[in-house]
Amino acid sequence: MTSSSALHRGLAWAAGELRSRNVKYSHARVLPWSATARFTVGSDSFWIKISPLSQSAAEAAILTRAATLGLRSMPRLIAASEELGACVLAHVEQTAQLREHHQAEEAASAISADLAMAGAGALAVPALSVDTCLAGILRACRATPWWLTPPVARALAETISTRQDDVTELDRRLDGTHTVVHGDLHPGNVLPTRDGLVIIDWADAALGHQLWDRATYRSATGYEDRADALSPLYPVLCALKELFDYSRMPDPCPGAGYSTNLPTLVAYASRRALSLLRSLAAQPTWKEALS
Ligand SMILES: Nc1ncnc2c1ncn2[C@@H]1O[C@H](COP(=O)(O)OP(=O)(O)O)[C@@H](O)[C@H]1O
Ligand SMILES: [Mg+2]
Repeated sequence: MTSSSALHRGLAWAAGELRSRNVKYSHARVLPWSATARFTVGSDSFWIKISPLSQSAAEAAILTRAATLGLRSMPRLIAASEELGACVLAHVEQTAQLREHHQAEEAASAISADLAMAGAGALAVPALSVDTCLAGILRACRATPWWLTPPVARALAETISTRQDDVTELDRRLDGTHTVVHGDLHPGNVLPTRDGLVIIDWADAALGHQLWDRATYRSATGYEDRADALSPLYPVLCALKELFDYSRMPDPCPGAGYSTNLPTLVAYASRRALSLLRSLAAQPTWKEALS
């Protein structure tokens, strides 16, 4: 479970890994699903990231492989603790603003291609499909999760449980080459540096179709490519992925000192769930929309 005390335990561990007592930290952010803080040791700058255990394991697995391949488009992993669900990463110095959206998508696919060449299938990251998302969301809705208001949870469960045929069809469309999907591709996770773009935040990485990243990125930025025949899928995929991520969130921890209050997060998740409901309602069946 992520909390400010987990962050302090993680920072103490990071200090041990870096063989220094002189750890100074700043910019801590504590949320129910992750805690992040920047810290310095002497003149070197690092980040610690603490996520629910499986997610930090995915980030460590991906960054370890990137290091063996010498990929400079991802942050350098300094240390990882499975027990604490923590990773220590070298600070990536951002030197400009991201201007060209297509470059972010291209950078993510180039990383996927490099990891695929190196046998991405063997990485310890979960598989991502429409079916797994839907099953996770349904399970969460039935248990009345803290991140959704009960009426929205009920409406969402009712709607998506009638969509099994569509799910099968959508997964068929996403069949083909499965490779590493970043899982949370948006401009905040793409840092332009002197050496090119660096993509951070691999905690939601999964093995699946590249379209998941495109859907997430385009919905975060409004970036469009009118020639893209699959674009009607993106709002649905994006909302599914986001709600699936919520569905895997640990319960909040009382007294954790979160940086955002829980009612704000509930209101946000409920808005996203309503947007998924609207996307579903706008398409009588995904099968028809795609034919
Ligand atoms: N290695 C890094 N270099 C530079 N900034 C980082 C690094 N890791 C994290 N950050 C900063 O911390 C923020 C949160 O970290 P991130 O890994 O994206 O976690 P979250 O899952 O909370 O979005 C990032 O948006 C970025 O501003
Ligand atoms: Mg991020």
